[in-house]
Parts: sequence; structure tokens; C-alpha cells
Amino acid sequence: MEAQSTGIYFNPWDKSFRDNPYPYYRALLDGSPRTIDLFGQPAVIVTRYADVTAILRDWARFSSVQQISPEVRQRGLFRGAATMLFSDPPVQTRLRRLVSRDFTPRRIREMEPRIREIATHLLDEVEGRGSLEVMADLANALPVMVIAEMLGVPPEQYQTFKEWSDIIIAGENTIPGQPMPDDVVKIINQLRSYFAREIEKRRTQPGPDLISALVAAHVDNEAMSAEELIAFVVLLLLAGNETTTNLIGNGMLALGRHPDQMELLRRSPELGPRAIEEMLRYDGPVQATSRRATAAVEIGGTAIPAGAECFILLAAANHDPAQFPDPDRFDITREVRDHVAFGEGVHYCIGAPLARLEGAIAIGETLRRFPKLHLSDPSAPLTYKGSYFLRGLDSLRMEIR
Ligand code: HEM
Repeated sequence: MEAQSTGIYFNPWDKSFRDNPYPYYRALLDGSPRTIDLFGQPAVIVTRYADVTAILRDWARFSSVQQISPEVRQRGLFRGAATMLFSDPPVQTRLRRLVSRDFTPRRIREMEPRIREIATHLLDEVEGRGSLEVMADLANALPVMVIAEMLGVPPEQYQTFKEWSDIIIAGENTIPGQPMPDDVVKIINQLRSYFAREIEKRRTQPGPDLISALVAAHVDNEAMSAEELIAFVVLLLLAGNETTTNLIGNGMLALGRHPDQMELLRRSPELGPRAIEEMLRYDGPVQATSRRATAAVEIGGTAIPAGAECFILLAAANHDPAQFPDPDRFDITREVRDHVAFGEGVHYCIGAPLARLEGAIAIGETLRRFPKLHLSDPSAPLTYKGSYFLRGLDSLRMEIR
């Protein structure tokens, strides 16, 4: 896991690595992809922008299908059913097509008034209380309420969905080869049963929501198996909330630590879209993804054997000086459409237009509402949630007066 002699260290299961992986990325960015020993298995660590994008564009030689044991599969979230995230074309293409119309930028723009209404309501409550805890008061609630509404389940139950998804995401950090803890499996079963019941309801009482659309696709042309249907809904719930929550949290932290940039954004709200891209580049919610080589291949001068597990460090690539000058500087005036915070290639995040809109509304409305917003204590230690792959704060207190 570590090669001290070369200053290289990669261990997502180490809390201090998780709390601040960026100094480790600097060393990893200096050189070709490295093969390390990860719990007895060889793994290739890929960090440079050119290498990361080369792999993500090559789905034929770098597969997203996970190699999991029957035991893990039986206790896992998707029970072995294909999902678009963990499959390759043509299966991924078939599944993605079923919802692609619901996530187009035009469809998402139509949701703007409702998203603004939810944000306004949440900020009204903050104003009443006189203090802001960014995660609990805003970032945890908004994305899960929006995705719940899209799925057609009551947004008032968002706290339950959030609790479930937090526990499940933290459980994803289980060391490879170790069984998933029982309490996580219990929550997975609750979540799956809840959505299985919602799916059953839609069979007789369809509505204008995403679950109904997926049920119709399942019934009409057998575009999906029953297991795929439930896995699809669970994936949308989880992917649609944990990530955007962390865009809002990590973005507000970056602004709090760079008051000049916060002031600039306040004075020039038209910089909003650029600021969101810079937040995604600077401290992205998804730090890494993985692929398995289906053939022997060379990337950036490193020979990768067939079957090798590759860790693709998106957040490191977003700090590659060869692609982003002065990469550790947070600068909302940068033009950074080419970051890889949403991935690249066929799996490029389907929810990107929604995440961008939610982030812009949540952060824009907060700055507009609280002209004196600042970090309570810029040097206070921060704690991060359990998962390395999804980077997000437990809490973030800011002063509004
Ligand atoms: C800031 C917020 C978000 C970030 C940083 C993010 C990041 C990503 C990344 C990096 C991938 C590609 C993973 C890979 O290639 O292995 C991805 C895929 C995906 N994302 Fe997001 N995401 C965000 C928000 C959302 C939202 C709001 C939704 C849905 C409502 C969503 C749904 C998905 C789905 C379904 C996939 C799989 C797409 C495919 O495999 O074809 N994401 N996301």
C-alpha cells in the first residue's frame, strides 16, 4: 500500500489519508501510473489527467463490471443486478437510455423554480434560528428532497433516506475481502424493501414520476429485469444525493476559506456557473472510481496486465499541473469545463446538469441571503464522512451575523 522510499502512499482506508488526500496526490502525480499491493492484490493507481481520461474513454479495455464474491453479492446493494454505473456497453447503453430523457439540461431547467423554493424554505428556517450548519441545514436536505420528488416518494421522508444512504455509503468503505457489517446489511434490506413496495404501488397506480417510467419500461418491452429495476431506483437515490450534498458542503468550505473569492462571487453573481466548476475541480465530491483491465495495455508508460484493478483518482487529475496551471489555487474566474469531477466517456455523470443547478441555487441563495457569511473558526478541525470515494464533511458551521 505504501512505498515510503519514493514518498508514495495510497490507502483510502486510512482516516488521515481520507481527511486530506491532496498532499499525497502531489507525490502520486509525479510519474507514470504505479502498481501497488493493496491487501494482497496488485492495483494500479492512476492520477495524471492524460492517463485518467485515456482510461475512462476506453471502456472496451477498462471495464466497470465489478468482480465480487457470491457472498458479497448476496449482502450487497444491487444483489448482482446490472446497473448503468457498474456495467459496460451494450448493457450500460440500454439502461442509461431508459432515463436519459429525464436528465437533459432542458428537463432539468424546468425544475429550477421548485429547487429554488426548497432552498428558500430551508434558508428561511436558518434565518429564524440565527445560525447556519451548512450540512444539516442545507446540503444534506436539498439534493435528497429533489431526487425523492423526481422518484415520486414523499420528500418529507428525506431524513430517513439520508440516514439510510449515509450508513450505506460509509459501509462501502469496508476493506476489500471483509464482509459488509451486519448493521449496514440491515439498512440495505430496509431500503430495498421500501423501494420494492413503491415499485409494486406504481404497477397499479402509475404517476408522472421516474419510478413509474421505469416500471413502464420494465413491463412494456422487458427493457429491464425486476432486479435491475430495484437496483436502478436505489442507484438513482444514492447517486442523486450524497454527491450533490458534498458539492454544496465542499464548495461552501472553499468559499469560507477564501473570503476574497466569496466576496468576488457575491459582487459578480454571473460568475456562479464558473465558480461551481472550480469547486468541482478543487475539492470534488467523487474522489475516485475504478476500472478493471480486460486486456494487457500500456498507459502513460506503465504496462497494465489483463485483470488488474485500476484506481482512477479523478480528484488528483483535477490537480494535475500539466492540465490546470497552479492547481492548488482556488480561483472562481478559471474556465474549467474540462475537469473530470463528473468522469469522462460513456459513464459521464447523467446527473451533472441537475447537480450543477442544485449547487448554483443552494450556494447562490445562501450568499444572497447572508451578506456577512463567514467561517466561525477557519482553523477548527473538520471531520469527514466514512467514505474515501465520496468526499464530504460531517458538519460545517458558519456565522451569518
Ligand atoms: C456534484 C454532484 C455529482 C458528482 C460529482 C457526480 C460524479 C459522478 C461520476 C464521477 C460519475 C462517473 C463514475 C464512473 O465513471 O465510474 C457519475 C456517474 C453517475 N452519476 Fe453522478 N455525480 C453527481 C451527481 C449526480 C446526480 C444528481 C445524479 C442523479 C440524479 C447522478 C447520477 C449518476 C449516475 C446514474 C451515474 C452512472 C452513469 C453511467 O454509468 O452511465 N449523479 N457521477
